[in-house]
Order: sequence, then C-alpha cells, then structure tokens
Amino acid sequence: MLFPDYRPRRMRMNETLRRMVRETRLELDDLILPLFTVDGKNVKNPIPSMPGHYQLSINHVVQTAAQARELGIPAIILFGLPARKDPLATQAYAKDGVVQRAIKAVKDKVPDLTVITDVCLCAYTDHGHCGVVEGQTIDNDASLDLLARTALSHAKAGADMVAPSDMMDGRVAEIREALDEDNFSHIPIMSYAAKYCSSYYGPFREAADSAPQFGDRRTYQMDPANAREALREVSMDVEEGADIVMVKPALAYLDIICRVREEFDLPVAAYNVSGEYAMIKAAAERGWLDETKVMLETLTAIKRAGADMILTYFALDAAQLLRNGRG
Ligand code: PBG
Ligand code: ZN
Repeated sequence: MLFPDYRPRRMRMNETLRRMVRETRLELDDLILPLFTVDGKNVKNPIPSMPGHYQLSINHVVQTAAQARELGIPAIILFGLPARKDPLATQAYAKDGVVQRAIKAVKDKVPDLTVITDVCLCAYTDHGHCGVVEGQTIDNDASLDLLARTALSHAKAGADMVAPSDMMDGRVAEIREALDEDNFSHIPIMSYAAKYCSSYYGPFREAADSAPQFGDRRTYQMDPANAREALREVSMDVEEGADIVMVKPALAYLDIICRVREEFDLPVAAYNVSGEYAMIKAAAERGWLDETKVMLETLTAIKRAGADMILTYFALDAAQLLRNGRG
C-alpha cells in the first residue's frame, strides 16, 4: 500500500479513530507499586530524589496500600529498612523484621491486595552488598541459604509472592526448594532475571540505604552491554522455577524486554527504576517536561516493548489517570 492509495493519516483523524486502532493500552492491572518500610511509629520521611515517595512506618504502609487498592492497583512490592545491619543480614530473615511485620499488617487490613516482597540482603548487611562478603569478594554459594531463608520468612509472614533481586547464581532454585519444603509450593517467584548493573538505581539506594560500602555490584549484576547474556539468565531462572521474569531497568533496556517477550512464554515484568522516575520528576519540576504526558508515554512504551506488568513509582499517579479515563 502506497501513497496516495494508502494514507496513514486517515486513521489519526480524531481521538475516536485513534482509540480504535490503538495497539497498546496501559491498564490498572499492569501496575505494581514499590513501597519502602522503616521501623518506628508514624514515620513518613520524604525521599529527596524521589518526590512523592517516603520511608514509611508500618501504619503508613498500610494506609498507602489501602489507597493503592482503592485506586485499583493489584499489587505492591515491599522493601525494608531494618533497625540494624550486620554482615549476615540477620534482620532480612528475622521473624519480627520490619518487612515481615509490614506484610502481616497489610494482609490484615487490605487482604485482596497482592503483596510481593523484594528478596535481597543489601539493605540488611553492614557492607551493603547483596550477598555474603568473603574478604573482598561476594560469596555466591554462601549467600543462597540466607536468601532462601529470607524468602521463606516472607512467605511465613503472609507474602503472596517473592521477588529475588540479588543476582546470585542458583538462587531461584534454592528459594523454590525452601518454599516447597515448607508447604509454600503455591507461592510464586518473580525473578529479577535480567538485572543490570545500572547507575539508574542511585535514588533507590538513598531511599533504601543500601549502597555498597566498598566496590560495586559488577561481579553479580549484568554488564549493560550484554543482550544475549540476558536470555541465558532468563532461561536459567525459568529452568529453576521462576513464575515471572523481570527485566531491570526498563527504559535503557527496552530491547531486552522485547527479546525476552519474544523468546519466553512466562509473564514478563519490567522495573521502571528510581533513576527513571527521578529524571522525569526533576525535568517536570523545572517546567521542562509535561510530567503527566511523559509518564504515560513512558509506561506505554514499556508495555509496548512487551512487559506484562510494570513496577513503577508512578503507579498511584497513573492509576488516578486511568480511573479518570485519561490513560
Ligand atoms: C536491591 C534492589 C535494588 C533495586 C531493587 N532491588 C538496588 C540495587 O540493586 O542496588 C533498584 C530499584 C530502583 O532503582 O528503583 N538489590
Ligand atoms: Zn541487593
């Protein structure tokens, strides 16, 4: 079909036509809201580089969770800031840890909201790495047991799904086995399967107080230059029992989302990370971008690339717009 017989502009003449031929639709059910929970009562510490987000004590987490549910958001993902840190991240798998208590409180008050938990050690270790430190290196195999214990403790507290983000080899299998052995074979694993060593995590590390105290995460998170390797990472996690596979970050990795979507049958999640959020917020604050429009364009692009669900700090704002029919 060639001009002048075919005129693509015909189907863009008005909003009704545009709606009819729209290929990608952002929906409430696509959204997962990340929340940070901290010990204490009535705490709501603003996170400077993530306007609109806070370190929340459990009562505020419950309140925000209820608001999310009210707006029609299906799920939250919880991150914890423990009261104390140590080399073995003991608060990550403590029965009365902050995340474990937050899970209980949310499930108690907002039972039909899906509670996903981030499973990692970096916010709980004094060295800030995602695994056990041995000298100057991160000991892969020694970390697996602690990660499995963390996931299991979340399930015991009532989590609906666990999401390992550490990038140790073999952790999905280890977590699957620990859950199955303890009668949690019904709890799904959302694996951060293709997680890159990205500088877009900067604001998050401030929010979660989880920056490594020495070195960086390059020996466990993926090299941003690699795409084929992402497919190997995903296929390993699928083999090990992942139920959902994630690509993270989202925007600089839309090609990875697309390829994972094409090669695998499992649901694909994408993490619209803290730095991606901060960039839009910062530009909007200066009046350089229309925040609402850029947000919707961004989330739609992530979905168009192939994501079935999007973890995003924009979830509440996007949900509000979608409810008002502005998606
Ligand atoms: C913990 C974790 C990180 C993020 C999610 N889980 C940070 C990191 O790996 O250093 C990043 C999320 C974001 O930037 O929004 N391993
Ligand atoms: Zn980590």
